[in-house]
Amino acid sequence: MAGNATRAKPEVAVAPGSENGRAVALPERFDLRSHSISEDKLRGLLRLFPEAAAEGGKVDFNRLRLALGESVETGRERFGLTWAGKADCFTAIQSPSLGTLLPAPEQSVDWESTENVVIEGDNLEVLKLLQKSYFGKIKMIYIDPPYNTGSDFIYPDNYAESLQTYLEYTGQVDPEGKVYGTNAETDGRFHSKWLNMMFPRIYLAANLLRDDGVLAISIGENELGNLTQLCNELLGEENRVTICSRVMKTGGQKGLHFSPCVDYVLIYAKDIEILGPFRQDISQNLIDKVYTKIAESGPRKGERYRIMGLYQPYLDPRANQRYFIGCPDGQLVIPPGSTFPSVATEGQIVKPTDGDGVWRWTYETYKQESDKGNVEFVKSDKTSLVTPSGKPATWNVYTRIWLNERLEEGQVPGNILERFENRHSSAELKELDIPFEFSKPSTLVKLLMSICGVGEGDITLDFFAGSGSTGHAALELAKERGGTRPFICVQLPEPTGIESAEHKAGYKTIADICKERLRRVIKRLNDSDHGKLDRVEAGKPDRGLRVYRLAASNFQVWDSARPDGVDSLQRQLTEHVDHLVKGRSEQDLLAELLLKSGYPPTTHIQGISVSDKAAYKVSAGQLLICLDRQLTHEAVRAMADLKPDRVVCLDEGFVGNDQLKVNAAQTFKTKGIAFQTV
Ligand SMILES: C[S@@+](CC[C@H](N)C(=O)[O-])C[C@H]1O[C@@H](n2cnc3c(N)ncnc32)[C@H](O)[C@@H]1O
Repeated sequence: MAGNATRAKPEVAVAPGSENGRAVALPERFDLRSHSISEDKLRGLLRLFPEAAAEGGKVDFNRLRLALGESVETGRERFGLTWAGKADCFTAIQSPSLGTLLPAPEQSVDWESTENVVIEGDNLEVLKLLQKSYFGKIKMIYIDPPYNTGSDFIYPDNYAESLQTYLEYTGQVDPEGKVYGTNAETDGRFHSKWLNMMFPRIYLAANLLRDDGVLAISIGENELGNLTQLCNELLGEENRVTICSRVMKTGGQKGLHFSPCVDYVLIYAKDIEILGPFRQDISQNLIDKVYTKIAESGPRKGERYRIMGLYQPYLDPRANQRYFIGCPDGQLVIPPGSTFPSVATEGQIVKPTDGDGVWRWTYETYKQESDKGNVEFVKSDKTSLVTPSGKPATWNVYTRIWLNERLEEGQVPGNILERFENRHSSAELKELDIPFEFSKPSTLVKLLMSICGVGEGDITLDFFAGSGSTGHAALELAKERGGTRPFICVQLPEPTGIESAEHKAGYKTIADICKERLRRVIKRLNDSDHGKLDRVEAGKPDRGLRVYRLAASNFQVWDSARPDGVDSLQRQLTEHVDHLVKGRSEQDLLAELLLKSGYPPTTHIQGISVSDKAAYKVSAGQLLICLDRQLTHEAVRAMADLKPDRVVCLDEGFVGNDQLKVNAAQTFKTKGIAFQTV
């Protein structure tokens, strides 16, 4: 797969109805069962290679091969990473999710207004559900997956019934005695299992990245090589930005040969050509140590700066950069060397020969900068500058580098990440009174977000969220810089283990820890802002949290895996008389319909009335959803009069009134409004 190729909006993921199921009128957009290339991709391919077009909009593969000529790899031995189960990964990617996200407002903060999301669920299913709504919208993905150390838990994917596995795992359906454990090193498929888990997730996650987006993955030594190859394959080797080493701890007695003190952060761009340069803030340490001078006069009086010699010995000799400079007492100085003219004047150029020193600037630049107050003369008996006779000078010439300009420019970050050790994350969680051992310091994630350019309104996703360090980092970054930094954290409700400190503290799952940590961070930030003026409306930070929970779709799905037989068939038919799952609320349905229509679940919805029926306006009225079960001609006309782009109604709304449904379809069609029933 070409790393850089732009992917068409995927046709994998949510699909409430089944081809064999009840007659659910799913529009084309909702049908995500396709195992073939999407329309967009196909059109793109044929635009590039029109000679490969066959009848009926299909591709003539032989002609495509001819068109590609020598670019086709024909060798039998190819470079790349293979493992047991790789082919099945594509099936896992393409099999749709039959799940939904159920809103949990009771666990949330500022439900109505926030863009911050925590989803409790298996991330493969969730990534599928998010495909349409967040396709190409995420600025940064940071993940910290299991390192495959032999003791960390790897959630078992079964692509054939992936949601079912999850529902059993979380006790939402009978688990039939299944036990989920760790990926032991003694297991013959140790690396393969891990890669089978990672490949589909990174594939789907990459779809969500913006063109200027960044993927950052924390990883240990065990899987560093495999993960690098996997990412090279999925995102393109040319898009690898770097592999950072993070100091986890210093010293220690663990290990036979070396005690592991670092882990790594792999950083990939979605498209390195589009990604801007990385800069980080200049450290206070550097400011304090280096920017020690303060201008006493001139246009920049009072500003901090540092000085740098205008002569540097490492410079290659440039013809026009060796000249005389007049110092305040009239002494002429020049970089050291052996070429000197018989008569010397200020600004006189002396063509350098081998070994002659030169200034960093041409004389013109020197004059301009000098006029701006950016040159400083310092009396010195240690200068390497010389006079016109080659004798040691008594002055040195410096240029001024202003702190304010450097602060604006920032600093190119080094790829060793220090000051983010494990002990820092432990301390951070201790301060929040939350027991959890495997977290990363939120300051590490905050630094990565800021280096990668996560700005106002840019969304960050973490689908191995653990205790929610990424959400914590986003909230802190927003506080520091102002504005909002929305985040999405996805975390499996992995049980904490009955004997664990987490369990004893009342957290049954890691997802519970994640939610509670973020609620506490929000409270702490709000408390610290209490009474401050900058919390008034315009600049009000987003200190909310929307919690969702992965569950089976609100729409009954025809279960082809049920045993054959008249009774079983009869039961399933009866269940499908009402194809909405019992006990689900209108809010649940709305959340699913938003996702299926390609809107983020946080999209603002306005409740309205259409001829006495409740309806919902989405995205300034482009989408209109009516979940009433007794629709009328008047309601249909009222909806059409609002001129939305699309109307979605429940199939039940037309039950027993086929004529009304036909009329509704006609009314909407004549007004150019797409109409769907679910
Ligand atoms: C190393 S921890 C992440 C720690 C996190 N960075 C922090 O600072 O707290 C990895 C997390 O991924 C979660 N996880 C593993 N498989 C998952 C899956 N299929 N879906 C969602 N989360 C999963 C585990 O429960 C674990 O909490």
